[in-house]
Amino acid sequence: MTALHLNAASGDIAPLVFLLGDPIRAKRMASMLSAARKVSNIRGMPCFTGMLRNGMEVSVQATGMGIPSLLIYANELIDSYCAKTLIRVGTCGTTNERVALGDLFVPTSAVSDSGILPAPAPALVTPSAHELVVKIYSCAKMRTDKTPSRVHKGKVFSTDLFYKWDNKEMQDFDSDVLGIEMESAGLFWLGHMKNVSTAALLTVTDKINVDEHWPPAMRATGVDTMLAIALEVASSV
Ligand code: HPA
Repeated sequence: MTALHLNAASGDIAPLVFLLGDPIRAKRMASMLSAARKVSNIRGMPCFTGMLRNGMEVSVQATGMGIPSLLIYANELIDSYCAKTLIRVGTCGTTNERVALGDLFVPTSAVSDSGILPAPAPALVTPSAHELVVKIYSCAKMRTDKTPSRVHKGKVFSTDLFYKWDNKEMQDFDSDVLGIEMESAGLFWLGHMKNVSTAALLTVTDKINVDEHWPPAMRATGVDTMLAIALEVASSV
């Protein structure tokens, strides 16, 4: 397949790719790699490839927000660039009182209201690489033991609408949904369809029901612990 939204040369994207919604956050993650270079840039959605401390190459792709946008990049990374592992590194909201702003969240399953996952839409979709999820959680746990923030694992709700028509919907979530975002269910579903490893690591930036939020600047720069954990995970896969 010829990629229409990526213009990297063949071989310029590593088998392991981190997917970040925000191009600025993607650039920030790339700056933590050595010898990072921009290998693709269409529509302001860059892809960087660089090296971990152990010499392994990884790539960092910006995907924009929502399942439709993420799936454009994920499909092209898999079909045109032979990506084998896709790890979403992003943010989420919560309505759970046990979860605080700045906490880390590792989805172990996802439910979705997405109108674009093919019928029959998966009621519950899991990350396609269980061992990767375990690794992300244990790496995050080790880091967060040393800092005031905490790490959770559980069910994520991937929604098509950031702004709900009716706030009452927020109370209708499964009580075991810990994180709410807009991408993971699509990524996990694609992982199963295309037989590639998928997982996610999220930072909680919104307490939706009590209207507490990280401000825009903090959303871009306050996620360094998560980025470092994701890179640490990659060096051990
Ligand atoms: N809702 C949906 N997606 C999100 C949120 C949210 O509150 N925070 C980060 N991504």
